[in-house]
Amino acid sequence: MSLLFTPITLGGLTLSNRMSVAPMCQYSARDGVPQPWHSQHLGTMGLSGCGLVTLEATAVEPIGRITPGDLGLWDDTQEQVLTELLEDLRTYSDAAFGIQLSHAGRKASCNAPWVDRGRPLTPEEGAWETCGPSAIPFDEGWHTPSVLDQAGMARIRDGFVQSARRADRAGFELLELHGAHGYLLSEFLSALANTREDAYGGSLANRMRFPLEIAAAVREVWPRSKALGVRLNGSDWVEGGVVPEDAAAFSRELRELGFDFVHVSSGGLAAHAKIPGAQPGYQVPFAQAVRAAVPDIAVIAVGMITEPRQAEEIVSSGQADMIALARAVLDDPRWGWRAAEQLGAPSHIPVQYERAGKKTWAGYTYAHHELS
Ligand SMILES: Cc1cc2nc3c(=O)[nH]c(=O)nc-3n(C[C@H](O)[C@H](O)[C@H](O)COP(=O)(O)O)c2cc1C
Repeated sequence: MSLLFTPITLGGLTLSNRMSVAPMCQYSARDGVPQPWHSQHLGTMGLSGCGLVTLEATAVEPIGRITPGDLGLWDDTQEQVLTELLEDLRTYSDAAFGIQLSHAGRKASCNAPWVDRGRPLTPEEGAWETCGPSAIPFDEGWHTPSVLDQAGMARIRDGFVQSARRADRAGFELLELHGAHGYLLSEFLSALANTREDAYGGSLANRMRFPLEIAAAVREVWPRSKALGVRLNGSDWVEGGVVPEDAAAFSRELRELGFDFVHVSSGGLAAHAKIPGAQPGYQVPFAQAVRAAVPDIAVIAVGMITEPRQAEEIVSSGQADMIALARAVLDDPRWGWRAAEQLGAPSHIPVQYERAGKKTWAGYTYAHHELS
């Protein structure tokens, strides 16, 4: 009996299994609005067999975009197109759909990764003024952010609240706040990006204050009948940055606020961090540490999870409650079908494709043997 294929409940939302598609920026929106690429991408992910698909980092205000091609959810057109997109997806996918709300902070105003590896925009390319907890650029040659004052922080908090309301109306069943990877909330949490001397900097309690204010405000408007969580860094991978104990302390506060899950990632805060990113499951120990320290909040593990048996082991050994996949499911969008076969669980191959299945197509064994 596979635990990976056993339903799980996050807050008021029950998912059909414990596999999810991690949020993945496509940098292909126009004015924050999804385009045909998003329909095909999300349609493919919606048929992957994962019980949850979380849409990419979606900005709560224009200057919170990493690139001009990021999704946004600050205006009516964006809300309407996302509503229609979800309606279409639901006609053929039985996955739950979530969205990640984000503000890129000092890492905003960049090119897509395929243009000079995502270097910051020049004024000619339409660069905009970025903001952050302190006037410290991400790296040499990056924009120096303006320091957020109370009014700026209130504007961003309200942006998260308004976008959360829009995400609810659009029909998303799960909301994930982006608190990882060196974007705005992660910048506040890390002493390396946050050197403020007011109530929002210094001690961990102070550094958590702004992210928690946003979290509390979003909790007020996001329905309990759905699921609410935060993606956070288990480590910044640099001396003086966030460590697993900080992640656990933040998760504990989120649980107190009534959050249902945390999604434990790492990195992205410091340009020169050394991350053992090629190692299978390299972030899973952070998820495990949070899960061990903080009961009653579901934990999602992510990062170099590539094999169904590896995923099964992570949930069945109690390292995490769920797993998320990014590159593995881009590489093999039928990852969940393969996992079902390997783990002896019922699979959800669409009826239209059944003739290519193991039982009905003699070429199946040959094709899968050739690929392996
Ligand atoms: C194309 C791409 C886009 C990504 N965009 C996001 C994003 O929007 N938000 C986020 O939190 N992480 C993002 N990530 C990170 C992934 O969600 C994931 O944490 C990371 O790729 C490690 O998981 P993996 O080994 O399964 O790929 C992205 C990764 C990829 C490959």
